Amino acid sequence: MFDHFRLIAPLYDRFFPPPDPERLLENLALPVAGRLLDIGGGTGRVTGRLAPHADQVVLVDETAAMLHQAQAKELCCPAVAQAERLPFASGSFERVLAVDALHHFAHQRQALREMARVLRPGGRLVVEEPDLRRLPVKLVALGEKLMLMRSRFLYPHEIGRELAALGLHTRVTTDDRFVAWIIAEKSGRQGQEETDER
Ligand SMILES: C[S@@+](CC[C@H](N)C(=O)[O-])C[C@H]1O[C@@H](n2cnc3c(N)ncnc32)[C@H](O)[C@@H]1O
Repeated sequence: MFDHFRLIAPLYDRFFPPPDPERLLENLALPVAGRLLDIGGGTGRVTGRLAPHADQVVLVDETAAMLHQAQAKELCCPAVAQAERLPFASGSFERVLAVDALHHFAHQRQALREMARVLRPGGRLVVEEPDLRRLPVKLVALGEKLMLMRSRFLYPHEIGRELAALGLHTRVTTDDRFVAWIIAEKSGRQGQEETDER
């Protein structure tokens, strides 16, 4: 299948400048003593912003061309790996993150399962996604379909429900724009779901 990210990798950071990390730092409850895993982290656009706030930030992505850009930033140990089959022991990360990536994963349920697996008990997982309840996001989703990208957007509560079913305590928060964050904590208790709209 045609890989759009291989094509746009050299230009990616020019089109998508690094975000203001404040909201992510809050949602991830950073800083943290321990390791953070950024899945589908691409060029390290976000990872680079988070690196000072954890002992180690590990970046994985399935597209080598995207990781090549990350290497130029001298980020720690970028590795080619698929979200659906993470090459890490269970419970090995204090924090797990996927920004604007879940809708690109071919097998989203399996990827969420893997994210929960590598999260340490007591740790926190954050999925940042465009908020499909907003019309502009629906149009982007349509545009990606027309460009034959294999993306599939889920509603925030659907992602939350999947993570809750994996036993994580899950909540959804949004901003005034087009982003939703699904924040999930692994406590060992049965999952619950709640919504905290902002
Ligand atoms: C829109 S980019 C986001 C990159 C980065 N998270 C950011 O916000 O700058 C989506 C990334 O997901 C990666 N990706 C898509 N499917 C993947 C999979 N199954 N496993 C790992 N990475 C994947 C793509 O290669 C691409 O780098």
